[in-house]
Amino acid sequence: MNLKKFKNEILDAPFLFNLVRSILIGGKTKMYTQIKNAVNANPNSRVLDVGCGTGEFAFLFNESVDYTGIDLNKHFLAHASLTYKNQNKRFIQMNAAKMDFKQKEFDIVLLLSFMHHFPGETLNKILKEVNRVAKSRIIVLDPIPRKYNPLSKLFYALDRGDFIRNKKEQLTVLDKHFKIEGYKEFKTGLYTLSIIQCSPNP
Ligand SMILES: C[S@@+](CC[C@H](N)C(=O)[O-])C[C@H]1O[C@@H](n2cnc3c(N)ncnc32)[C@H](O)[C@@H]1O
Repeated sequence: MNLKKFKNEILDAPFLFNLVRSILIGGKTKMYTQIKNAVNANPNSRVLDVGCGTGEFAFLFNESVDYTGIDLNKHFLAHASLTYKNQNKRFIQMNAAKMDFKQKEFDIVLLLSFMHHFPGETLNKILKEVNRVAKSRIIVLDPIPRKYNPLSKLFYALDRGDFIRNKKEQLTVLDKHFKIEGYKEFKTGLYTLSIIQCSPNP
């Protein structure tokens, strides 16, 4: 078994995925605050979290927000459903490249730590679907390469996503599908993360 396959299988366990993420990100408070501020969901908003994983970010939304998370990984979804049992949140196994939702079904669509898992062609299919189901806003969070820190380089290499893009590459791929409304970067632990606010194209 090669290292990447071994690592992916280990990280399929929700507890280990969350623990590793917490170590690499250096605690999560800063990331949570940045996401919450960028999303700024109104009560009754319909929010779709694409590639929601273990539901890491679902707690940022209170009961007035109608939250749906989709992912392919059934272990992550089972963990999320258990964590948020009896809350206004649902977790569904669905492929982001072919979503079973109506046009403009969600006010806000989230792509959190998701984009860097896909090569250009697959990502374009997913973003096209996101543009179809998003009504008002799309919020993207993704790592940015940190070239000059050798420790960061090592941990980025261990990330499950093989397609970490720099600012220009991220904006280029998003600009094909959405209108870019805002971009910022912040450092947390060994990572630099971008947070990008977009609106869907008509
Ligand atoms: C790095 S994880 C991020 C999870 C979550 N957004 C977070 O930040 O904690 C990427 C997630 O995308 C999911 N995923 C990969 N391909 C997918 C696809 N085609 N459709 C839906 N989810 C997918 C994986 O199962 C994984 O849970």
